[in-house]
Amino acid sequence: MPSFDFFNYQNNELFCEQVKVKDIIEKVKTPAYVYSKNSILKHFNEIRDAFAEASPLICFSVKSNSNLSICKILADAGAGFDVVSGGELYRVLKLGVSPDKIVFAGVGKTSEEIKYALENDIFMFNVESQSELANIDRIASDLNKTARIALRINPDIDPNTHVKTTTGKKENKFGIDFVIAEQIIKDIKNYRNIDLKGIHVHLGSPIYEPEPYVLALEKVNKFLQEVLDDKDKQRIEYINIGGGYCISYTGEKVKRPLAFATEIIPVVKKLGCKVIMEPGRFIVGNAGILVSRVTYTKVSSWGKKYIICDAAMNDLVRPSIYEAFHRVWPVNTDVPMPEVEMSYKVQSARLNQQRDMSDELELVDIAGPVCESSDVLAKERWFPKVKEGDLIAIFSAGAYGFTMSSTYNTRPRTCEILVDGGNISTIRRRETYEDLIAGEEEFLNER
Ligand code: LLP
Repeated sequence: MPSFDFFNYQNNELFCEQVKVKDIIEKVKTPAYVYSKNSILKHFNEIRDAFAEASPLICFSVKSNSNLSICKILADAGAGFDVVSGGELYRVLKLGVSPDKIVFAGVGKTSEEIKYALENDIFMFNVESQSELANIDRIASDLNKTARIALRINPDIDPNTHVKTTTGKKENKFGIDFVIAEQIIKDIKNYRNIDLKGIHVHLGSPIYEPEPYVLALEKVNKFLQEVLDDKDKQRIEYINIGGGYCISYTGEKVKRPLAFATEIIPVVKKLGCKVIMEPGRFIVGNAGILVSRVTYTKVSSWGKKYIICDAAMNDLVRPSIYEAFHRVWPVNTDVPMPEVEMSYKVQSARLNQQRDMSDELELVDIAGPVCESSDVLAKERWFPKVKEGDLIAIFSAGAYGFTMSSTYNTRPRTCEILVDGGNISTIRRRETYEDLIAGEEEFLNER
């Protein structure tokens, strides 16, 4: 049985740390996100240790999993935070995170958000346009403050990931190209309430190889060495290298942070800057699962078999919008989960060599109840035979799972559960029908 970052099968039962997933669900029902605290900490420590030589400030990317209790675990472990909205900033300030560990990115920060961040003295804005810089300068002047900023560079480097999660190519809305960056830096004195502290680069996510990071940082180095004069160069005290570090969604081996650090640190050293990083997915991605119950099974006369479960695209949208692959397996099963699971073609080839096993499996689509054809969580998978009422686990759902969930089809958002050793705690309660209409009901009688 594969060991899956604190989610393991023992005697045909899926455990999260020392707790049976079935026992958690008996208490909290389905669908439910279940996270392993020790998996989160293990991943945080792994990335911190890998990059230790560069002593980075590790700013956890809040958008990947913004639950207060999860952010608190990371704050207690020493993390800073990368936020992209006033709402995310509100969350981390609520936790009492020191503002000098908060960086704020995003192409469309509003004046209200900028003011809120300045009033709270955050460490740095990652600035994405000249207009934004002028706005931050104006607001800082009104508040009689100085805003620390890094310029987010768009280096036009392909990170070889999904087109919808690529951010550092010239066709993407993010960042500032080198020509405009040069102009801004040359004119920086005109922005009287701005303190230029660094350069920020984030290429996209997930990234499976170190090369794109290296190429981008080499471009930044060339820019610093060949374009900027000495005085301007000295202003660049920080290099923020963003996030994007991959996880394995299939069970295949992928490069771990050390492999990235080995290639990235030498280039960072050439830059001679202090380092900030913004990992999200690597820390929480494989530390969470989404647990769902089979509502119905269904076979068409064309021979297509569906497992209809009670989790849907509103709970986990990644498969619908990025064709993202998540492993799915029953919570209780005597069929071992394959070490590596990929497309059904790869599975089929392997099963042809192990005919005995194929009797236990059937080719299915695992779909949710939402009224959209794209509401399929797993397509064409060889899956153990299950019946109505059985539990299934959707793996690698800790990042961009709950945070991207919605109430589409007026479905309450799931609860979130945290496991620490043998302890189970609810870290977000399941929404109720009342929650769903709460902001609307009060207006009914006014009309
Ligand atoms: N820094 C910046 C500026 C970012 O935009 C992002 C992610 C990160 C850091 C963190 O990247 P990570 O280490 O988590 O890969 N919803 C998509 C991913 C969108 C990522 C957005 N930005 C998904 O589900 O795959």
